[in-house]
Amino acid sequence: MILAPERTNDLGIVADAVQAVNPWEAFAYLVAGVLFILALRGLSSPATSRAGNRFGMAGMAIAVITTLLTHNVASLLEILIAIALGGAIGFVIARRIAMTAMPQLVAAFHSLVGLAAVLVGAAAFLNPGAFGILGLDGDILVVSRIELILGSAIGAITFSGSVIAFAKLNGSMSGSPILLPGRHLINLGTLAAIFVLTIAYALAADAGPGEGWAFWVVVALAFAIGFLLIIPIGGADMPVVVSMLNSYSGWAAAAMGFTLGNNAMIITGALVGSSGAILSYIMCRAMNRSFLSVIAGGFGAEAASSDGAVREQRAFKQGSADDAAFMLKQAETVIIIPGYGMAVAQAQHALREMADLLEEEGVAVKFAIHPVAGRMPGHMNVLLAEASVDYDKVFELEDINSAFAQADVAFIIGANDVVNPAAKTDKSSPIYGMPVFDVDKAKTVMFIKRSMGGVGYAGVDNDVFYMDQTMMLLADAKKMVEEINKALGH
Ligand code: TAP
Repeated sequence: MILAPERTNDLGIVADAVQAVNPWEAFAYLVAGVLFILALRGLSSPATSRAGNRFGMAGMAIAVITTLLTHNVASLLEILIAIALGGAIGFVIARRIAMTAMPQLVAAFHSLVGLAAVLVGAAAFLNPGAFGILGLDGDILVVSRIELILGSAIGAITFSGSVIAFAKLNGSMSGSPILLPGRHLINLGTLAAIFVLTIAYALAADAGPGEGWAFWVVVALAFAIGFLLIIPIGGADMPVVVSMLNSYSGWAAAAMGFTLGNNAMIITGALVGSSGAILSYIMCRAMNRSFLSVIAGGFGAEAASSDGAVREQRAFKQGSADDAAFMLKQAETVIIIPGYGMAVAQAQHALREMADLLEEEGVAVKFAIHPVAGRMPGHMNVLLAEASVDYDKVFELEDINSAFAQADVAFIIGANDVVNPAAKTDKSSPIYGMPVFDVDKAKTVMFIKRSMGGVGYAGVDNDVFYMDQTMMLLADAKKMVEEINKALGH
């Protein structure tokens, strides 16, 4: 028989009755944990991501069924109705959602994880007996007080932060940073108050609903700090924020796993928490920004405030689909750089057809993907995989950047910030320091976008438009590529 860890109250007295843990339950949770690890492993490459998703689904099914079978569930019918309703809503949303709206969907889902953690924390606070967290003195155990208040606070931050991230990404509120005067002081003061009240709650003589006012104050302050922390962060940093909130939601779930004594929740929460933190770190590195500078906020405020400024008119060369097709046919090597505009235009299938046609002509075609191209991690990989582009033709920034010097054509389709040389040269640019593709080294640059007026996510002009070797192809990405394909002989 496996014994659950004993809990002692502050006087060191063993408080919980020693609970027997069903070995089958422990084993099933272990299997679910292993499947979640395999899911993360699978999701690290487009070639194995489908299998990764299946591992994740199987792990979650095992965890949920095991919990329902091994716990004293008050009303199985109610739970099954809730699962059916939630599943149906999730199914419909997943089928309908546009790929470009995926980041805000992820933010919206994180807000629900945060809210769930707050509700579980509040339930444990209001009815501690049902959660088995009462000590011999009839009050909530100190360790459980810390778990439930921390889980609830992190959940509340995740909830309000994710709601703001959703609103910014969805365009329901301005993506530019909102900078309150004295915001660092307000944030530090609020965080300090949360810290002090958490300790006060943990040490209070009575932590139950009657006296535990500190619990509600901490939850309210945590809701506020989630809001305050995210409003000063500009739209360009939102992907990092979403992944950071993902990490928070994992830690909230892990804390709640301790309160509920549920190993599956602890394992899953820790996996989500750490993978979210690693992803945030990788994204910061890809944009050459420190995590602290992202969290401190304010990025993009200058660019947003200069939006209204009249941009200087500069000379550029414009070409047609026929011109592009002619030059592409003559090339030996073409490197295609897709970006957000390809996703908006849904041009990936036409693009793959173009690559096939060029390969038939003996042209070597490669795809170059920037880690933050598009609006979410892996955005371009998913779209190219959907169009059945071979994975071995798709290269990451560091693996292909040196190849531009030998390339005949750099074919930019709906990308902008990720090819902007200002990131290397202009210290005042909001994207300064972000590694970018060296497209200026290619013999010819073809640049598809709809108009010269449109800018990329960071809202800055791009010198590549005006280079001698650049041909601007001004049209919707899908239409332009379809016309190029026609001119190539289809
Ligand atoms: P962007 O810099 O956003 O540029 C998009 C380009 O696509 C613009 O030049 C736009 O110009 C063009 N475009 C839009 N719709 C088009 C259409 N239908 N047909 C043709 N062109 C179209 O894209 P990027 O280079 O992929 O850079 C990504 C940016 O987003 C980075 O700043 C990154 O930090 C940020 N970001 C990334 C993520 C992640 S994790 N990937 C998430 C959020 C933000 P027109 O309007 O003139 O057509």
